[in-house]
Amino acid sequence: MKQRIRKAVFPVAGLGTRILPATKAIPKEMLPCLDKPLIQHAVDEARAAGIEQFIFVTSKGKTVLEDHFDINQDLNKTLEAKSKHKALQLVKDSELPAGSLFFTRQAVPLGLGHAVWCARHLVGNEPFAVLLPDDIVLSETPCLKQMTDVYGELGGNIVSVMEVPRSQTNKYGILDVGKESQGGVVEIKGLIEKPEPEKAPSCLSIIGRYILQPEIFTHLNTQSAGSGGEIQLTDSMAKLIGTQPFHGFRFKGTRYDCGDRIGFITANLAFALRDEKIAEEVRANVKELLEI
Ligand code: G1P
Repeated sequence: MKQRIRKAVFPVAGLGTRILPATKAIPKEMLPCLDKPLIQHAVDEARAAGIEQFIFVTSKGKTVLEDHFDINQDLNKTLEAKSKHKALQLVKDSELPAGSLFFTRQAVPLGLGHAVWCARHLVGNEPFAVLLPDDIVLSETPCLKQMTDVYGELGGNIVSVMEVPRSQTNKYGILDVGKESQGGVVEIKGLIEKPEPEKAPSCLSIIGRYILQPEIFTHLNTQSAGSGGEIQLTDSMAKLIGTQPFHGFRFKGTRYDCGDRIGFITANLAFALRDEKIAEEVRANVKELLEI
């Protein structure tokens, strides 16, 4: 029996330097994609996959993330008194059950591997998910749910993957690909963080969705700095290969990197065009802009 994935880690300590000055005083995870902040997209995706415990790895200036998932009694009372039922429901949808949200800090920005390691005591000795809220996935079935379904069959470690242009391999963790089976599952022979295009073993890149076994912490405990001088999650994952099942999964959907201006704008447009209340008007506006 595979142990159910109950916990998810959300590394949210980053500075958001690619979207300054928007992120000078607010965390990048609070930027909206349509009407929900990026972090809520990630938390909602985790909830849809059955996650019950939400572990945020934060840093200075991120307390608004705690407030967002809290109950805002004043706001709720005001909306109720004014009979703004739809608005009240939207606010209530952002609340998390009492005692399900946990915080730890990454005091020094030493890299993604270090951020995940900071959550080790909260995760304990069980498999867990990691969601990077910069990455938003537009899909029929939420990406992490697709992954937990595959996990139910295969167990072990699973990362969601997608093809990228060879010129961009130095922006991602890249797979050395083994056998591919039906359903978009690929065996992983090796993993390398941000290789230059000429050194990349493939163009299959990791997106910010992981299911990991707790043994990852054994490697993170002793991990030294890798690509970019940071402690990389990819380097510790690479050490698990051969000791545990490790698969890449070609998720069904489109991933947007919302930590980047182009990805952020494109994600907003894509979500708007999927929203039946506003799609038609947005489409007309975009068309008009393109004709100018
Ligand atoms: C991180 C990971 C990288 C992964 C990427 C997905 O990189 O280190 O392996 O491909 O997220 O978004 P970052 O974007 O934090 O530099």
